[in-house]
Amino acid sequence: MDRPQLTAKKEILVETDGPVGLITLNRPEALNALNHGLMEQLVEALEDFEAAPPIRSIIIAGSERAFAAGADIKEMDQATVAQMSADPHLTRWDRVGKCAKPTIAAVSGFALGGGCELAMACDLIVASETAVFGQPEILIGVIPGAGGTQRLTRAIGKARAMELVLTGRRFTAREALSRGLVNRVVPVESFLSEAKKLAHEIAAKPPIAVKAARDAINKALDVDIDTGLTFERQHFYSLFDTQDQKEGMKAFIEKREPKFVGK
Ligand code: CAA
Repeated sequence: MDRPQLTAKKEILVETDGPVGLITLNRPEALNALNHGLMEQLVEALEDFEAAPPIRSIIIAGSERAFAAGADIKEMDQATVAQMSADPHLTRWDRVGKCAKPTIAAVSGFALGGGCELAMACDLIVASETAVFGQPEILIGVIPGAGGTQRLTRAIGKARAMELVLTGRRFTAREALSRGLVNRVVPVESFLSEAKKLAHEIAAKPPIAVKAARDAINKALDVDIDTGLTFERQHFYSLFDTQDQKEGMKAFIEKREPKFVGK
């Protein structure tokens, strides 16, 4: 199996809007199928945003027609077990899930297979009315490999995840909303602006507290309640070492807006 190197062509577009970093998937000819080049560039861009102090939240967006139609089937159809196991490709989804800054998926059109998994690796999902989710891997002889069985089950429960993964059936944005997979469903023409609005809202919050809150919420998915409560409390206490806690509480008492500095 030939592994394509990082291509000269930009598989993603990267821009900033104040404290918000925006990564747009850019393989329209393949409905943003997530090949090696695209995912490498995505992780690089994510790491650049993580390292940039002015960036406080990150959006991953696709086009109106497709967020992403999955991992690139044409890159793996002839692969062997040994080749697949030695390939770091799928760990790039894990890296998105471990991003140190809040991430929002702006989803319109197809979010299938690895595309659905990429959206679920983000903290929040803003979906357009035309968004279509699904884990159709069973239809091509495999199973989700970038987190689908784990993240979908945690998000919507065992019975529903089981049905969707075993049948490969697609589901709409409304269904995703009613099952708690996405945060909001908005008209197609405003899915990106709504994602930006949410990203700016979060970016304005004290970043150390935002990180503590994300870490604690993510912990809730993995541990028993007592361990989770202890983890939460330690993070709560640790924030009393920050300027933003002093400023936030002082501003409340003085009946004014707080000015958070990220320290
Ligand atoms: N990989 C590679 N190419 C893909 C692709 C994918 N996942 N999805 C779409 N494309 C390509 C098509 O091959 C086609 O290219 P050509 O014009 O060169 O033939 C182009 O994108 C447009 O696609 P269609 O002509 O199929 O467009 P459509 O509107 O008729 O159908 C679709 C859209 C329903 C999304 C259909 O493309 C589709 O079913 N795609 C595959 C979905 C899928 O199975 N995803 C899971 C992939 S495996 C995976 O993700 C594993 C994992 O867990 C990580």
